[in-house]
Amino acid sequence: MTSLDQGVWQHFGFRSNPLDPRPLSVSHQDRELMVGRDQENRKFAALSSNDHGVIIVEGNIGVGKTSFVNAAQYDLSKRGFLPSHQTIEVRENMEPSNLVLSALSNLVYSLELAKGRDANMKDLSLREGKQLVANTVKGGWGGQLSILGTGGGVQRQETIEQAPTIIINTALQKLDKWIERAKEKFSYRAGIVVINNLDRLLDQELVELLNRARDVALLRPNILWTLIGKVGTFTTIEGQARRVSEIITGQPILLNPLSLEKIHEAIHVRVNKFAARKEARFPLESRFIDLLYEVSQGEIRFIFKRLTDIVYEVVAELPSVDMIPSDLAFKVLTKLAEQRLSQLPLTESDKRMLQNMAQHPFRIKDYKEFKLSSQQALLNRVRRLQKMELLQSERRDAKMVIYRTVADVNIVFRKDK
Ligand SMILES: Nc1ncnc2c1ncn2[C@@H]1O[C@H](COP(=O)(O)OP(=O)(O)OP(=O)(O)O)[C@@H](O)[C@H]1O
Ligand SMILES: [Mg+2]
Repeated sequence: MTSLDQGVWQHFGFRSNPLDPRPLSVSHQDRELMVGRDQENRKFAALSSNDHGVIIVEGNIGVGKTSFVNAAQYDLSKRGFLPSHQTIEVRENMEPSNLVLSALSNLVYSLELAKGRDANMKDLSLREGKQLVANTVKGGWGGQLSILGTGGGVQRQETIEQAPTIIINTALQKLDKWIERAKEKFSYRAGIVVINNLDRLLDQELVELLNRARDVALLRPNILWTLIGKVGTFTTIEGQARRVSEIITGQPILLNPLSLEKIHEAIHVRVNKFAARKEARFPLESRFIDLLYEVSQGEIRFIFKRLTDIVYEVVAELPSVDMIPSDLAFKVLTKLAEQRLSQLPLTESDKRMLQNMAQHPFRIKDYKEFKLSSQQALLNRVRRLQKMELLQSERRDAKMVIYRTVADVNIVFRKDK
C-alpha cells in the first residue's frame, strides 16, 4: 500500500500527498501551510490574555476548525502558553472527571514534547501528575481509555483500583499542582486544553456536560479551555446553560468557509512545499477545484479529500496520466458520492426527501414543502439523516436552525449538475 501511495505522488513530482486532508498539527511546519484566518487568529490571541476560562470556536464540518485552533496554539506557544498536541474528543455520556484526566494527560504529554522526555521526572508534583495519568490509563478507570489520548508518553504502571469520587478529588489537586509547578519551572503562563467535536452531541447533551463540567473542569486556574463546535454552539449555551455562558471569554470565534481564492492559495502553498521536482503540478485543473468548492460550499476538507481520492482512483486505471481531465474527474467524483450513499440504509422515501433538501437550505417550519404532515415528522427525518452525516445544521439564533445537505448529497441529487 504505502509504496504504491508514495509512487503515486512521486509520479507527479511530490515527496508525499500535498493535500493530506488531516488537520494541521501544532508545529512550525504545519503553521506554514495555514492560509487566511488572520483576523480570527488575532481575536484568539486577544481572548487568550485571560490566561484561563473558555474560548469557543465555531464552524461547519470540515471548514478548518481543528487546524485553526492548532495554528493559534502554535502562536500562543511562542508567547508562553503550553499547547495541547492532542484534542479531547467528546462522546455521549462523558463525565466531567474524564475531562479533568484527559486535560492532565494531554498537558503531561505536551510538556514532554516541548521540554524533553524526562521533563516530568525532575519534580515531585510533575511526577505525581504523570503517575496519576499512567495509573488511571492502566486501570481503565471509567472504562474510557481512548479519551485519555494515545500520546500520554507514559510507561504503564501497576494498576491501582480507586473509587471515582476519590480519584476526581485527587485528580483535581494533582492537576492544579502539576500546572502550578510547570508554570514555575518552565515559565509558562497557562496550559491550553482543547475539547473537539462538540457537534457530535445533541444540544441537550452538550448543555448537560458543560453544566456539570463548569466547576470541576472549566473553572480550573491556569487552564485556557478551547471548545470546538458547530455554528451556534455559543447561542445554545447562552440560551440553555446560563451559568456556563458566564465563564466564556468574549464572543465565539466564527470560522466561515475560506474564500475560493484562499483555497487556491492553500493548494498552491502545499504544491510548492511538497514538490520534489521544480515542475511538480497537482494533476487536476483549477476549474475542477472551483466545482468542488461550489458543491461543498467551501468545505476545505472535502475538497482536499476528494482531490486526493480522485488521483488514486484515476492513477489505478491510467498509471501514466499526467493531467486528469475535468470530465473524467467529475465522473469519479459522482461515483464516489454514489458509493458512499449506497452503503447507507436509505429508503426510497429518504432519497426523495434528500432530493428536495439538496435544492436549498431549509428549516423545520418548511415541513409542507416536503409533503410531510407536521414539524415533528420532518424533525424525525432530519435526525435520521443527520445520524448518517448527510445533513448539517447551523443555529442562527435562539429560535432558528438551518439545515443543509452535505457535498456528496448535492453531487448525487442536485438538479442543476
Ligand atoms: N486555513 C487553512 N489553510 C490551509 N489549510 C487548511 C486551513 N484550514 C484547514 N485546512 C486543511 O483542511 C483540512 C481540514 O481541516 P480540519 O480538519 O482542521 O477541519 P475541521 O473543521 O476541524 O473538520 P471537522 O469538522 O471534521 O472537525 C486539513 O487538511 C487542513 O490541513
Ligand atoms: Mg476538526
